[in-house]
Amino acid sequence: MSVDSSPPAQRLNLVIGGHVDHGKSTIIGRLLADTGSLPEGKLEQVRATCLRSGKPFEWAFLLDALKDEQAQGITIDAARVFFRTASRSCILIDAPGHIEFLRNMITGAARADAALLVIDAKEGVQENSRRHGYMMSMLGIRQLAVLVNKMDLVEFDRAAFERIVEEYSRFLDRLEVRPAGFIPVSGREGSNIARRDPRTAWYQGPTVLEQLDGFVPEPPPVHKPFRLPVQDVYRFPQQGDERRIVAGSVDGGEARPGDEVVFYPSGKRGHIRTIEAFNRTPPDSARAGEATGFTLSEQVYVRRGEVATLAGQPSPQVTSRFRASLFWLGQRPLIVGREYLLKLGTARAPMQVEAIHRVINAATLEPNQGADRVERHAVAECTLALGRAIAIDLPADGLATSRFVVVDDYEICGGGIVREALPDRDAALRDKVQLRNYKWEASLIPVERRAERYGQRPALVLITGELEADRKSLARELESRLFETGRSVYFLGIANVLYGVDADLDRTREHRQEHLRRVAEVANLMLDAGVILLVTAAELTRQELELFGIMVDPELIETVWVGPHVTTDIGFDLQIPAGTTAEGASLVEDLLRRQGIIPPPS
Ligand code: GTP
Ligand code: MG
Repeated sequence: MSVDSSPPAQRLNLVIGGHVDHGKSTIIGRLLADTGSLPEGKLEQVRATCLRSGKPFEWAFLLDALKDEQAQGITIDAARVFFRTASRSCILIDAPGHIEFLRNMITGAARADAALLVIDAKEGVQENSRRHGYMMSMLGIRQLAVLVNKMDLVEFDRAAFERIVEEYSRFLDRLEVRPAGFIPVSGREGSNIARRDPRTAWYQGPTVLEQLDGFVPEPPPVHKPFRLPVQDVYRFPQQGDERRIVAGSVDGGEARPGDEVVFYPSGKRGHIRTIEAFNRTPPDSARAGEATGFTLSEQVYVRRGEVATLAGQPSPQVTSRFRASLFWLGQRPLIVGREYLLKLGTARAPMQVEAIHRVINAATLEPNQGADRVERHAVAECTLALGRAIAIDLPADGLATSRFVVVDDYEICGGGIVREALPDRDAALRDKVQLRNYKWEASLIPVERRAERYGQRPALVLITGELEADRKSLARELESRLFETGRSVYFLGIANVLYGVDADLDRTREHRQEHLRRVAEVANLMLDAGVILLVTAAELTRQELELFGIMVDPELIETVWVGPHVTTDIGFDLQIPAGTTAEGASLVEDLLRRQGIIPPPS
């Protein structure tokens, strides 16, 4: 939580980067001390502790000492420190390692307006000086000051400074980055941080603080299209409150009660009824930069991961394929065909690299010809394919929905920006579903009220398996068991669809997709009615299951494979390898109980 109450327009979000040990933390400690941003007596206390333990004092210790005080939440939270210059307040993100740096740059609470890059005057430009510079430019940070630190170690020598200016300028030139300036500093001695140092009389430019005042905070992007990546949907049923509050941080634009909201990728829509705020009077709008929530006039069911936008404004693109530039930091190289997790805004999707178009070394900018993998610390241009479609924006708008991180084995291993949305296989189908959702006549009866009445949650149980497996007997047994225990359940026999809804289709292989689409649309209606629906289909593939997931809320689907051999590439929730129909039905009932679809046995 920020204690900073100055208007966001005058607040500057900064990131700091540079090679290990070049002095980032020291400079931050200095900035805090010299701007009077430290708690009373803190500096003396840390000095005294050092003296007692015989350790030489380090400015970086201040940061550690402040972190220990996080409970009091005064100056620092996690990796963020707050301080004031003559004209404004600053939030500076200190990210110790590469991964933290990238994560902060991409998923950080606020987008950085400007960056400080620290280079050790004695050691000179190192790999990470370049890599951080590369990341900053890739992620679109337009204002950068380079601090040539530890000038005391080179006797404040102008030539040493200028060698670094020259070398690093050449690198930035190739990235087409024009730095605001280079500043010779000594974090340890406080030279040119807040006060000029006479030993650098040859330097006429601004001090670090003056430079910070010269940066222009990007205006809160209220003029951009409205974007609110849905973080969560809250309900308070205990209080007899049937409102659903759609919550998240507004990344762009502004919305007010009465505005029509469209969610992507689903295409669902509604009108904002109220803007909500926690512990304060509800504001009359939700604006870029604010964490907020709103309720809708209609019953609209959306989940985390969708993006709320306003009708009539440019919409994001919905796709499961896009071209991207990304920075890779994983121990293991990024390879084609392996399964990763992509996080963009609040959306999560399984991801594979479909193609690697170009790889370059971020430190040397040397291209790596014909690469089939992206090694650690390299930058690549790739085509990414996701397991489900998400809403994305192009980086020109500077919206968070254009930046992503890649997770490999539970760890963030890379990140980057969207370059171009590419067409994907299911685009036509998704368009149909979006239109259907857009036109949907929402019931006035909330889903929860139906669930209460029926004592169950709606679900689509897909029973698939080997060609010979007896799926139908299982479905029938399950239907009668559930029915006899009071559930509202229906087994949708395939023939019921084939000769009715499908009467205009012949039963050829090429119509299988359209057949499944219709089954899924029928299922969607029955789920809306609150029913547990059992559907059987031989040898469903992963792609066909994904297709169901486009038309039906994937959270409502349970997949059961019948038979000892799995003959397709599908993933399932339960396999029934063998046994009687009765045993199989019990296993499915257990699954439904575990998932909270039906109540535990009484
Ligand atoms: P990491 O967070 O580990 O990447 O390092 P850092 O960039 O935060 O560097 P830090 O501030 O911890 O400083 C590293 C070492 O350099 C410490 O021993 C500092 O005392 C020393 N140092 C930092 N700034 C100066 C300086 O201006 N002059 C001299 N002589 N030493 C400095
Ligand atoms: Mg540090």
